[in-house]
Amino acid sequence: MYKSIIRPLLFLLQPETVHHLIVNILKTGFKIPGISYLVGKIYIIKDKRLNREFLGLKFENPVGFAAGFDKNAEVYNQFSNFGFSFIEIGTVTPKPQPGNPKPRSFRLPKDGALINRMGFNNKGVEKAVIQLKNKKHKVIIGGNIGKNTDTSNENALNDYVKCFKELYDYVDYFVVNLSCPNIKDLRKLQDKDSTITILNELTGIRQKQGKYKPILLKISPDLTDNQLDDVVDTYRLTGIDGVVATNTTVSREGLLTEKERVQVIGNGGLSGKPLTQRSTEIIRYLSQKTGGEMPIIGVGGIMSVNDAIEKLNAGATLIQLYTGFIYEGPGFVKRINKALLKQS
Ligand SMILES: Cc1cc2nc3c(=O)[nH]c(=O)nc-3n(C[C@H](O)[C@H](O)[C@H](O)COP(=O)(O)O)c2cc1C
Repeated sequence: MYKSIIRPLLFLLQPETVHHLIVNILKTGFKIPGISYLVGKIYIIKDKRLNREFLGLKFENPVGFAAGFDKNAEVYNQFSNFGFSFIEIGTVTPKPQPGNPKPRSFRLPKDGALINRMGFNNKGVEKAVIQLKNKKHKVIIGGNIGKNTDTSNENALNDYVKCFKELYDYVDYFVVNLSCPNIKDLRKLQDKDSTITILNELTGIRQKQGKYKPILLKISPDLTDNQLDDVVDTYRLTGIDGVVATNTTVSREGLLTEKERVQVIGNGGLSGKPLTQRSTEIIRYLSQKTGGEMPIIGVGGIMSVNDAIEKLNAGATLIQLYTGFIYEGPGFVKRINKALLKQS
């Protein structure tokens, strides 16, 4: 029903319009008594065999919603009803910012893909804290943090520190986003020295807090093997807890969509099917390099149950979806969890 009726209708609208529509439906629809229960009844599978322990946190199942959808921490509880056990809010920046000019999100249906250059549009960390503070959380929450576009790379550390401190009491784990292709020069901060400086500062601040919160680094799928080796070194040197692999890619290789259309769309991060293989390769590489020791959340082009299983087999303990949820619909998490149960 989603693919034959709902998706074709939604795909008539601009991706960002659909995004706002869904956020509004989630915000208002779930206020109706009983809706949350009913949706949960349809989509949630509860089974002990799906439970996962990761970095000291207990997850109901291994499937989460990736960063970028609930940028302002407004609808995380509603997503629990679709079977997700965790959701990453953000990317959150210290100050609110509008992001890049519209249009900035595009579908490539022939490729099962999206291209976005949103540019960290968000209401700022203070608003996110208000959203997180006043509600009981039904899912595990990751806080994905970044820097404002107008903050220079030299001053980026302050932005990460501010978001980290402000969110510390309200999220369960952190993701440091240095890999977004849509913020000018952000990915230059992925060089080993800059990354280590930022992560050392955050782990240092963490030591002074009462409660331990895991910190993960979100990495780009466009890193070379040498750069991936740097990621392993960084993980060992800084005392962070793991990685989220991967963000979107700047590559446009092998697309089925017409070249002209891709050119007209222009810059942005590509997600979905064209990313599947590369992100799984990265997970496998990091896992093998560390003898399976590095904790990994696998994300990037999970468009089928099989893609999910491959990411887990490659070395991810948990997985996240974004583009797959848009293309496959609300029943996708349940399908993945059902398949995992069959395997167990
Ligand atoms: C529209 C859109 C916005 C995104 N925004 C963010 C973001 O703010 N921060 C982030 O770390 N990743 C962001 N991402 C990347 C996703 O979290 C994910 O890493 C990537 O899309 C690959 O997964 P997928 O193929 O399942 O979509 C965004 C992705 C999309 C499609």
